[in-house]
Amino acid sequence: MAPVNEIDFGTPPSLSEDMVDVVIDGQTISVPAGTSILRAAQTIGAAIPKLCATDSLQAFGSCRLCLVEVEGRAGAPASCTTPVAPGMVVRTQTAQLSKLRRGVMELYISDHPLDCLTCAANGDCELQDMAGAVGLRDVRYGYEGENHLDLPCDESNPYFAFDPSKCIVCSRCVRACDEVQGTFALTVRDRGFSSQVTASQSESFLESECVSCGACVQACPTAALTEKAVIAIGQPARYVVTTCAYCGVGCTFKAEMRGEDLVRMVPYKEGKANRGHSCVKGRFAWGYATHKERILNPMIRGSIQEPWREVSWSEAIAYAASEFKRIQGKYGRGAVGGITSSRCTNEETYLVQKMVRAAFRNNNVDTCARVCHSPTGYGLKTTLGTSAGTQDFDSVRQCDVMVVIGANPTDGHPVFASRMKQRLRQGAKLIVIDPRRIDLVRAPHVEAVHHLPLRPGTNVAVLTAMAHVIVTEGLVDESFVHARCELDAFEFWAEFVSRPENSPEATQAYTGVDANELRAAARLYATGGAAAIYYGLGVTEHSQGSTAVMAIANLAMATGNLGKPGCGVNPLRGQNNVQGACDMGSFPHEVSGYRHISDDATRAVFEELWGVELDAEPGLRIPNMLDAAVEGDFKGLYVQGEDILQSDPNTRHVAAGLAAMECVVVHDLFLNETATYAHVFLPGSTFLEKDGTFTNAERRIQRVRKVMAPRNGYADWEITQLLANALGCPMNYGHPSEIMREISAVTPTFEGVTYERLDELGSVQWPCDAAAPEGTPVMHVDGFVRGKGKFVVTEYVPTEEKIGPRFPLLLTTGRILSQYNVGAQTRRTANVAWHHEDVLEIHPHDAEDRGIRDGDWVKLNSRAGATTLRARITDRVAPGVVYTTFHHPGTQANVVTTEHSDWATNCPEYKVTAVQVARSNGPSDWQTDYVLKARRSRSVAPVEPAE
Ligand code: SF4
Ligand code: SF4
Ligand code: SF4
Ligand code: FES
Repeated sequence: MAPVNEIDFGTPPSLSEDMVDVVIDGQTISVPAGTSILRAAQTIGAAIPKLCATDSLQAFGSCRLCLVEVEGRAGAPASCTTPVAPGMVVRTQTAQLSKLRRGVMELYISDHPLDCLTCAANGDCELQDMAGAVGLRDVRYGYEGENHLDLPCDESNPYFAFDPSKCIVCSRCVRACDEVQGTFALTVRDRGFSSQVTASQSESFLESECVSCGACVQACPTAALTEKAVIAIGQPARYVVTTCAYCGVGCTFKAEMRGEDLVRMVPYKEGKANRGHSCVKGRFAWGYATHKERILNPMIRGSIQEPWREVSWSEAIAYAASEFKRIQGKYGRGAVGGITSSRCTNEETYLVQKMVRAAFRNNNVDTCARVCHSPTGYGLKTTLGTSAGTQDFDSVRQCDVMVVIGANPTDGHPVFASRMKQRLRQGAKLIVIDPRRIDLVRAPHVEAVHHLPLRPGTNVAVLTAMAHVIVTEGLVDESFVHARCELDAFEFWAEFVSRPENSPEATQAYTGVDANELRAAARLYATGGAAAIYYGLGVTEHSQGSTAVMAIANLAMATGNLGKPGCGVNPLRGQNNVQGACDMGSFPHEVSGYRHISDDATRAVFEELWGVELDAEPGLRIPNMLDAAVEGDFKGLYVQGEDILQSDPNTRHVAAGLAAMECVVVHDLFLNETATYAHVFLPGSTFLEKDGTFTNAERRIQRVRKVMAPRNGYADWEITQLLANALGCPMNYGHPSEIMREISAVTPTFEGVTYERLDELGSVQWPCDAAAPEGTPVMHVDGFVRGKGKFVVTEYVPTEEKIGPRFPLLLTTGRILSQYNVGAQTRRTANVAWHHEDVLEIHPHDAEDRGIRDGDWVKLNSRAGATTLRARITDRVAPGVVYTTFHHPGTQANVVTTEHSDWATNCPEYKVTAVQVARSNGPSDWQTDYVLKARRSRSVAPVEPAE
């Protein structure tokens, strides 16, 4: 596709259902009441010149270029700020209007550099376009007067430059930052001729509050705000619509190309998850695809002490297959397994689990959801009948009360956070339940009505206490419960939550949450209108993760907040395709569509298609694979696109498990930390280099489209196919669409999903079948997937991880906006400008007790291990709680996390570790040792010259 600018209607659409007839340039049209004249004219192709208006922002009326004549009205009103009225007669093109518009343009051009031919925006500049549109030929004022042409350029942001000499002070950037992003980082300083756009308090963009989302750059009509890649490479010549490969929001982008070079990623207005917005990761952090550390040739080595040896694809595949066969021959069929990747496509994930089941002939397959949202799968399936969130993101527009628990959307799911903030600024109420004062608690023009700073590990007690208030104060939606839920289970649950020991007053002592505040929050949730719960890993990554998910579902059922817009139970998924990886059968007990492997009828479907008999016994989960490896029973692992050494808990144990294996095959972009223990390295492809689909947190299946050829030679699905064939499991797919055809054929919830339908509709949300051929935005509308909703008793069982004299603080972990997961991609981009190391947040009281100053190196000690990092003193964390991120392998935050895990799913308890913190002089023994080992393991033997 050539880069056609999507039509800009100038002002946002009116949502009114009343229609108004107007006459524009002699043509009668009917538009919704409240539509601007500018937009109405554009709908019939009468493009009125404009500069300060764009349809992603409210009209502002500052440039005066969009003037029109309206019969019966004096003067020439601005069409962007004037709504249509019944019977209105408008003229958009007259001699008088042309004269006025040329006059406006003369003023702009007289204070603008006349370097169009060498300007980076040449050909993509609205000022240039408007000068042409109004027929500007001359500037009467000359160019010598006072002007802004010498203002210095701000190049501090790694990704875009601000050249104030090209700024026309239209304020589109300021409004984009306010209205779309919600950061309010920009302002117009001074008045009149001195007006100037500045970031924060006249700081550079990098030092300001700017979070580099790019909304201002996108909104800017001139070259004042321009991507540095456009300045360096030039204007793009074509684009491909694809999906971001970072987080579970699943933003749609236009990958704009010039030749084989990716010039920029521009958020796509038609994207149903992001509605034209982006964050710093998807918008700018794609440079890892061409980073010099990317491995492009397969490599093998006999032992992890040896240097790597580059080999051909055929040798690497043959070696890996022969090793897996040798291991199975020697140690048994169950001695090998595979890990699928939530960063890879649905099709690739499906092939990995197929290879494990049909070629390894066991069910030893698992995925990183084990360590994040497996409790969501268990909890929502038990209560509601399906392992996924209930709403679409658009639903937030109708939400009256938001509960955010154990999630930090502005960092983890930033584009959705912007949509939440838009709704909150319109008046929706916010309850935050989190040990930290996350940004949402108090952001510009947003303030939580209640922040419940609970002690880590007490989610279940807090949620059950909220249920106590709802039941004992008569706030249950009785008609919903009677119509939609199992009554016996409800009554049993209601009696349980009503017990005095579950009251806010009784639980306050160990949750740390003020009883009155909790009561008020529960009342607001139950009575404030459409109420939605958004939750993240702060709910799931606990020894009671599944219980907490069920407690959330209980609250939603009790208050009737399911099955309609604006409410629901909404897990905010971490990685881009974690929902898809789960959907595709990545768990050891389930095939695609969450059907148990022990079910004979389900297995028969796959056995007939694949021509092999499947094992009816569930296989090993990741922690069980590692335990078995340490015990000597598990010897071979294929890991696609995951870095379990860095991401999984208790790093020493993971390392011991990997070191005990005889063949570890790592399939990834970089020699990651897990590759330190690998024997075969298969270079992976980026999302830019392949076709496929991702499924985001709202069950939305979206196309990933190939933008460039794979630099490593193969897309990941092709590599798995080569390995499966070498293992004797025939696979012969010519394109990922053929894999999707197979997925649709064997997975009822994907029955109607084809690439053709995705291309036609843009995306679909599963279930997509004969009953819902265009997908299902909101689930459980007329009934729950399991029939009647099931209330589950959620008894609070404190974690075994206890604080005491040796380890008196509680560590909880999370992520930060600019980095992603283990950082393998984002650490290899300019995003390190914002976060180049993990730091430990510690409350001033705890720091003072230990003599710690801001920026000091501190040692973080737990029962599992120790690491060192710098301290940041902040009251964002409560006394007794410390917090860090896990993006940098130099820190190895998971050296200190323990093996405690969720009772139902083994999801690790990352969010609660008892620790001690003390000043330190430098890295821990583990860190020093590990750095040496990792460096050694990355050495590649020189290629011997051909004879
Ligand atoms: S930087 Fe661009 S968007 Fe912002 S005021 Fe200047 S011209 Fe307008
Ligand atoms: S990049 Fe985003 S946050 Fe930064 S100033 Fe622009 S709109 Fe605001
Ligand atoms: S919000 Fe998530 S999906 Fe969207 S651009 Fe950012 S990282 Fe990508
Ligand atoms: S576009 Fe209407 S005043 Fe600027």
